[in-house]
Amino acid sequence: SRSVDKTADGELTIAGLRVTELAETYGSPLYVLDVADLKHRAADFVTAFSAAFSAIGTEAKAYYAGKSFLCTAVAEWVAGEGMGIDTCTLGELMVAHRAGVDPRTVGLHGNNKSDEEIAFALDWGIGRIVIDSFDEIPRVAAAARARGVRAPVMLRVTVGVEAHTHDFIATAHEDQKFGLSLHSGDAFDAAGRIAASEDLDFLGLHSHIGSQIFESSGFDIAATRIIELRARILTELGVDLPEVDLGGGFGIRYTSQDTPLTFTEMAGRLASVVASACEATGSTLPVVSFEPGRAISGPSIFTLYTVGSTKVVETGSGERLYVAVDGGMSDNIRTALYDADYSCTLANRDSASEPAVVRVVGKHCESGDIIVRDEYLPNDVTRGDLIAVPDTGAYCRSLSSNYNHVPRPGVLAVDGERLGWVIRPETHADVLAWDTGFSSTAAATD
Ligand code: LLP
Repeated sequence: SRSVDKTADGELTIAGLRVTELAETYGSPLYVLDVADLKHRAADFVTAFSAAFSAIGTEAKAYYAGKSFLCTAVAEWVAGEGMGIDTCTLGELMVAHRAGVDPRTVGLHGNNKSDEEIAFALDWGIGRIVIDSFDEIPRVAAAARARGVRAPVMLRVTVGVEAHTHDFIATAHEDQKFGLSLHSGDAFDAAGRIAASEDLDFLGLHSHIGSQIFESSGFDIAATRIIELRARILTELGVDLPEVDLGGGFGIRYTSQDTPLTFTEMAGRLASVVASACEATGSTLPVVSFEPGRAISGPSIFTLYTVGSTKVVETGSGERLYVAVDGGMSDNIRTALYDADYSCTLANRDSASEPAVVRVVGKHCESGDIIVRDEYLPNDVTRGDLIAVPDTGAYCRSLSSNYNHVPRPGVLAVDGERLGWVIRPETHADVLAWDTGFSSTAAATD
């Protein structure tokens, strides 16, 4: 489904458009969104999970995690492929609202929801609010009562599994801010309080174990524990919760080191785990839901940069070619923040030159401003060349900043014959507009 290709002379194209034309017309750096790829990914996820779970008599729902990358066009597109939207702030809710998404397919997360967020969600008729703490239970209940509605809620449970790429450490992850602990009994206690409230419609239990996960083993433990908790809630509280949400976290292939399962493989494994956990507890589960973000948005954007300067540096054990581009940690902070690995290519031409060990760095005033830590590129990469960094759709634009007063790049969407901004690029005028000088008034004394 990828629209990305190469011309005979080695230039990267998207939907037949040369990247040199794109950079010339739309500027650089530039996020380029492959709409067909995004839609296919969303559709594939929905199809794979629906098929695997319908085979065990469970309906599967998917909520696109807007935190990975959200704008109104993307909300519309993923909703068009049968996904709901998972939000965690008023801003994300507003985007989904503006996109005209059906509120019943929207969820609200957050460990510190504001009154405004809860009010907006309820007034809009949101499908679910995921309760994250004890003090949120009476707050959501009161807001629902004030509106004469019952608030649909899920309970976020900390199941004691830390998913860490290939690995997970059981029990270790109690000490973090999200959810209520299964282990301590808080989750069961919270379930009792929710069930007792007339103002809350208790839909089910939620667990999210981490991000960029390649295997099903962490999900297996989470699913088993949460289905056990659901069975206990039925036995001891008499409440039959219709739904379990196993969160997001499905990994993608950033480099050849990454070996994620396909959606079909992951869905098949999770369905069999859910089936056996249900069997062990003598229960049936009507609905299971998921919140994939990265796996939908990640591969659908590449960032296009222009090389401004190169430098050969002694590493002690050899040489490294530093390739400085016109963006950096303000448009992709993941390398600096998480030690993330990306790959990249020389996008505007072929080269027969020898490969060099390259580090792609940005233009920010900080040595950690690295975009691609290690890659082989032709050693003749030079000022004016274009570099494409694939798989920058998730947590790049959404985590971007104006560090060093750099305007953030826009997101150009390419969809077959059509193209246009889904987020326009910022200008220096935008960046300077926040700076009001000292527009002062006299401070009231008494
Ligand atoms: N659901 C919940 C409750 C979450 O907290 C998250 C991600 C997701 C779903 C979506 O996870 P995904 O499928 O995208 O992995 N900034 C980090 C990732 C932070 C993830 C936060 N929560 C990064 O760039 O790697």
